[in-house]
Amino acid sequence: MPEAPPDDRPALHVESVDVTYGRALSALRSVSLTVPHGAVVALLGANGAGKTTLLRAVSGTLRLHRGAVTGGRIRYGETVLDGKDPVTAVRAAVVQVPEGRRVFAGLSVDENLKSGGLGLTRRDRARTQEARDRVFALFPRLAERTQQAAGLLSGGEQQMLAIGRALMAAPRLLLLDEPSLGLAPQMVDRIAEVIREINAQGTAVLLVEQNAGMALSLADHAHVLEVGETRLSGPAAELARTDAVRRLYLGETAETAEDRGAA
Ligand SMILES: Nc1ncnc2c1ncn2[C@@H]1O[C@H](COP(=O)(O)OP(=O)(O)OP(=O)(O)O)[C@@H](O)[C@H]1O
Ligand SMILES: [Mg+2]
Repeated sequence: MPEAPPDDRPALHVESVDVTYGRALSALRSVSLTVPHGAVVALLGANGAGKTTLLRAVSGTLRLHRGAVTGGRIRYGETVLDGKDPVTAVRAAVVQVPEGRRVFAGLSVDENLKSGGLGLTRRDRARTQEARDRVFALFPRLAERTQQAAGLLSGGEQQMLAIGRALMAAPRLLLLDEPSLGLAPQMVDRIAEVIREINAQGTAVLLVEQNAGMALSLADHAHVLEVGETRLSGPAAELARTDAVRRLYLGETAETAEDRGAA
């Protein structure tokens, strides 16, 4: 891929966004965050805090869940994303990997990867081979299993396929929804490595995680959502040191805090 000129470095701006499901269920209230070009930003929060909802608002998939952005603005570079559809997001190179490593179980690895390029323009599709090479370099295990039904892959391999499929759309911003969920520690480490590598190749990442330790070790910046509102925001290293985050998300108890010498 040619080097992007310096003026072509879009950032994601989520500005005071409200999201409502159905007629009344308020899921996000005045949430703001920025993902600068090439950055990794973590989004933490308990079950039901609104993390997935925020990713859906960005990727244009809210409507599929009867949700809508009812206030605020979402922009990626010059492109307005709020109220738009997934094709708009994908064409702007913003691609979501959904929660639960959803792959098409009955389709082969190859067919799953091909589906990731749908919605692209013909010019973008010309880069498909390049994207495939990138996916197979990142995930050699998928390269060995191109004809295998996706449903027969292990959980970790399915997560890799879900990420690989998103990479087929050549994202500049990747939205990852709990990629480590339900995976063995070794596989979680592998996924973390992969995220680091994808980012090093120039793709920005908005990372939703329950595994705060993993997310904060990867991220530049982090935000904590609590029942639809931003509770904390700051540099990841700083958040990892705050008592609230340590207690709520890093498994710290009164005793371990004492061991650490905290008052
Ligand atoms: N399709 C939907 N229709 C109605 N309400 C929904 C829908 N999807 C999510 N919600 C509600 O919106 C709120 C935020 O949900 P969301 O899935 O964004 O949370 P989350 O932070 O991703 O949680 P988890 O960690 O469990 O994945 C919750 O109260 C949830 O019940
Ligand atoms: Mg979720």
